[in-house]
Amino acid sequence: MTSPIPAPHSQPPAPRSHLAQVFAQYPIEVMRGEGVWLYARDGRKFLDFYGGHAVAGLGYGHPRWVAALDRQARQMSFQTNALPMSVREHAAARLVKFSGLTLDTVFFINSGAEANENALKLAFKITGRTKAVALEQGWHGRTAAAAAVTWGALEKWYGFPRRPFDVAFTPRDKPAAVDQAIDRDTAAVIVEPVQGVGGAFDVGKPMLEALRRRCDETGALLIFDEVQCGMGRTGAPFGAGYYGVTPDMLTTAKALGNGFPVSALMLSRRVAGQIKYDDMGTTFGGGPLACAAVEAVIEAIESESLLANVRQVSAYLSAHCRVGPVTGVQGAGFLLGLKTSRPAKEVQGALMEKGILAGTSGDPRVLRLLPAYIMNEGHVDQLCDALARIPA
Ligand SMILES: Cc1ncc(COP(=O)(O)O)c(C=O)c1O
Repeated sequence: MTSPIPAPHSQPPAPRSHLAQVFAQYPIEVMRGEGVWLYARDGRKFLDFYGGHAVAGLGYGHPRWVAALDRQARQMSFQTNALPMSVREHAAARLVKFSGLTLDTVFFINSGAEANENALKLAFKITGRTKAVALEQGWHGRTAAAAAVTWGALEKWYGFPRRPFDVAFTPRDKPAAVDQAIDRDTAAVIVEPVQGVGGAFDVGKPMLEALRRRCDETGALLIFDEVQCGMGRTGAPFGAGYYGVTPDMLTTAKALGNGFPVSALMLSRRVAGQIKYDDMGTTFGGGPLACAAVEAVIEAIESESLLANVRQVSAYLSAHCRVGPVTGVQGAGFLLGLKTSRPAKEVQGALMEKGILAGTSGDPRVLRLLPAYIMNEGHVDQLCDALARIPA
């Protein structure tokens, strides 16, 4: 068999950048951030409605977050989970209390995909079944299991020779269809209560309730992927509380560390009661710096009443932004999708020229906004003024 890898003498020339070229990039080289503002190398300044892809919940350089990381780095920068640390215990307890949910066992890992990978693995292990169910347009990550339940991944970029388990997708807006999709072979049902990449689409209470009911009927475990919509982004601590539907497991990441890489898998008592040593593991997960970041984020959200701010400013934004090319608004809190009469990419480009950074999504007619929780109505006025100056 011939190898598809070219022989050394026919290698292409050395690349200009040594970074893997897998990301389309915006024409802005960011040098510094402060609050909701980004400062570029060429002197331009941008109002950031994108938040580093939903990560910078507190904005940039938040004093409480900076101080917590500085303090922890001086005290103890890293230890493994084999050595108990109070900062890790505190972060888990604080996260459970903040969530207001009954998912009171926490496993810290490093990324959204890793959290989903572990949640799915537990569901298969506990139920002994072979199938997962996910929603159309859902996004869950790039690793083998998380990508297997990501809508469209298999056709576009999956890469592995096969999915590790059977997967069925069900429409995101048809609660009546879940009875057929979820059966007694189903180990896990994974859903983003508000889809992020899917266009800031609010899946809604009837759909989440239908999934909960059907999981209870069949014995499947319900996983809420709140990697993007959790940690305050809806204006509630988590989508689970926002909709009043409690899953068996919940994953969260992004704003959890405000930029320090950390994710969490939260388990119900029923699930936690079935895990044992070695079922999961990690080197970096639950490191002291990550845990200090988690505590600082929660402390800032609570002491600065940021959830109330998200709710108030989100309502203001929805009421005022239907101008220029914007025809409608969907989503919740600070995970908003502006429906556009023109391709969202064009609107994004026009906003960038006016000093505003926004995101796109899997829906070519939805501009996605993921601002920091400190964004105020004055900032929203700047966005609306800019949108009004863009032709419909
Ligand atoms: C809902 C959701 N789940 C999972 C992921 C994957 O997270 P990560 O990139 O940290 O692996 C993402 C990333 O965008 C996401 O939006």
